[in-house]
Amino acid sequence: AIIPVILSGGSGTRLWPMSQPEKPKQLLSLTAEQTMLQLTVQRAAGHQFADPIVVANAFHADLVEEQLSAVESAAQALILEPIGRNTAPAIALAAIVAGGGSEPMLVMPSDHVIANVDSFHAAIRDALPLVNEGWLVTFGIAPDAPETGYGWIKVGEQLAKGIHRVDRFVEKPPRDAAEAMLASGDHAWNGGIFLFRADMFLGALSVYAPEMLIAAQQSIERSRREGSRIWPDAESFAACPSDSIDYAVMEKAPRVAVVPVSMGWSDVGSWDALHAISDPDEGGNVVRGDVVAIDSRNCLVQSEPGKRVALVGVNDLIVVVSGADVLVLPRGRSQEVKRVIEAMKD
Ligand code: GDD
Ligand code: MG
Repeated sequence: AIIPVILSGGSGTRLWPMSQPEKPKQLLSLTAEQTMLQLTVQRAAGHQFADPIVVANAFHADLVEEQLSAVESAAQALILEPIGRNTAPAIALAAIVAGGGSEPMLVMPSDHVIANVDSFHAAIRDALPLVNEGWLVTFGIAPDAPETGYGWIKVGEQLAKGIHRVDRFVEKPPRDAAEAMLASGDHAWNGGIFLFRADMFLGALSVYAPEMLIAAQQSIERSRREGSRIWPDAESFAACPSDSIDYAVMEKAPRVAVVPVSMGWSDVGSWDALHAISDPDEGGNVVRGDVVAIDSRNCLVQSEPGKRVALVGVNDLIVVVSGADVLVLPRGRSQEVKRVIEAMKD
């Protein structure tokens, strides 16, 4: 069976004030009743999938377990990182805990939306034969903007039905390079979802990031376990270099393939992105919580029980109420929420 590996260690600061260190984006309900983590777990359930391995920060252990059991899921292993070392070490821990054998791992961020799960599953089916031959597979999204926060893939020759060689993988390119790749018509965004054999991933690490592999192995050898919970040894893990899978492996490995897939993918990276994927009400607003909108259109309002928000005569606003914090900004500028985080540090 395919082993789902769910990465749940990010902080998602661009969705402040809902996303906060105690409760980052993946542990929030943003697009549905379920949290982003719960939606991710449900996306990889069924007979072809094993129980997931979840990699999260130790601080979130109880919340993660609670959210899994609320959707009648349980992790075969819950790996609890003492500190974040980015995605490559997190995936290494999962591959080692999985036994490092030839079974395929489906690595998924826990904070994305996939509207069409059937297309996702079809893409996985297309990919499996090459995965079993040892290819590292990623899923490609048709780009519609010169995004500098994504990885970009030059889609090469077709290797089999629905699956292509990756000619080049460029993580987080500068703006001009992103514009050129968008214009070329033969590039895709990296969706951040990967499918490969555990042994193939660990093999790639031994070539391109041997120190990371050794530190990850040592931290698991010396780990503490209790039921499905695994605490990697903090000292060994601290020695692990911090890097993403994209830079550490995908840009370098020779046998990388991409399955272009149209599945209603969004990484919900900002309040504007959330607005873009949500269906507006009759008044043209996207509203969650107790909201009165008078003579107001095209707004996104997100509140919580006991906190009513009323709008009068405003258009194209984003209003978010969460705990003690309120955010108000015009639509189109939600990338600048990171300036709020910076300002609060001073
Ligand atoms: N366990 C764990 N530990 N998870 C982590 C850590 C960590 O240290 N760091 C990040 N994650 C999780 C995040 O929660 C998220 O679900 C996922 O790993 C990806 O990390 P991001 O930090 O969101 O990556 P990114 O958005 O900069 O870039 C990646 O995703 C893009 C698509 O959204 C890359 O794969 C890009 O190439 C890709 O285009
Ligand atoms: Mg991301």
